[in-house]
Amino acid sequence: MKPRILLTAAIPEPGMELLYDAGEVTLLPEVPDTAALTALCASGDFDVLLSRLGDTVDADLLAAAKVRGVSNYAVGFNNIDVEAATKHGILVGNTPGVLTDATADVAMLLILGTARRVVEADTLVRSGQFSGWNPELLMGADVSGQVLGLAGFGRIGRATARRALAFGMDVVFSPRPPQERIVSADELGEFAGKVRQLPWDEVVAQADFLSIHVPLNGQTRHLVDAAVLKAMKPSAFLVNTSRGPVVDEAALVTALREGVIAGAGLDVYENEPELASGLTELPNTVLLPHIGSATVPVRGKMAVLAARNAIAIGKGEMPEFAVNPEAFRGAQ
Ligand code: DGY
Repeated sequence: MKPRILLTAAIPEPGMELLYDAGEVTLLPEVPDTAALTALCASGDFDVLLSRLGDTVDADLLAAAKVRGVSNYAVGFNNIDVEAATKHGILVGNTPGVLTDATADVAMLLILGTARRVVEADTLVRSGQFSGWNPELLMGADVSGQVLGLAGFGRIGRATARRALAFGMDVVFSPRPPQERIVSADELGEFAGKVRQLPWDEVVAQADFLSIHVPLNGQTRHLVDAAVLKAMKPSAFLVNTSRGPVVDEAALVTALREGVIAGAGLDVYENEPELASGLTELPNTVLLPHIGSATVPVRGKMAVLAARNAIAIGKGEMPEFAVNPEAFRGAQ
């Protein structure tokens, strides 16, 4: 029997090909709301849901679901209640590794883009107001020689550190803010002697650029709130490529408006796709539409991993990347 796989929207071609080869695929014509998705998962017609970040897979859905697993087309899985999934023996798959460099590239892009006022500069040229080289036109901030503070030091944080070091930045990090955990020299590996671990409040206070690389969970929701923004240097920039709710976006708008910090580069938002009121009016921001992993090769690789995870789960096998392997119950 081919595994029956439900998709709320198509994933890139390399993944779709694998799914059509190995499974019986249902691709919905429209993305369903959570109630409709719950009914579909409870119908008994599907073995696996291949979800995207916009699909809310909550405790109610999982309690009613008759699927073996959910394969998320993303490395992050905050759209899924993993604890509830585990309780109901539902495996959750994700796509780690393949998007690390692409996302770190976007973090670096936001560091450079906020420092060098790239949106304002581009707007000036496009609006026909560029009247030639001017000694004081759009002067920005330096990147080399500046301190990059990293919140989180996992795969993407490290890849960002690698880039920042190549740009001559001084890199400090807190591995699991707001908690503290000492990273050993062994764990630091290639970074030993090149980056410094500091307590979270010192990372915040010393950073010229504070870049967020933590997963969204109960501890990290609003990690960057009004108090943290106030503790940053007035000349500092905030960069977020992880998850929007890690930053209190309303507090950020106030801080940017009042000059509490110098600027922000965001790829993710607290209530995607909605933006906090006033954010788009601020010139000292670079705002991207959650494109950290959006290169053709990377999205293709993510699609392959998500498809492989879905097919394995559907066959009753352990997927290559399971967030909750303890939910595995084998073929039934
Ligand atoms: C992820 O995979 O979690 C990214 O945010 C989207 O590619």
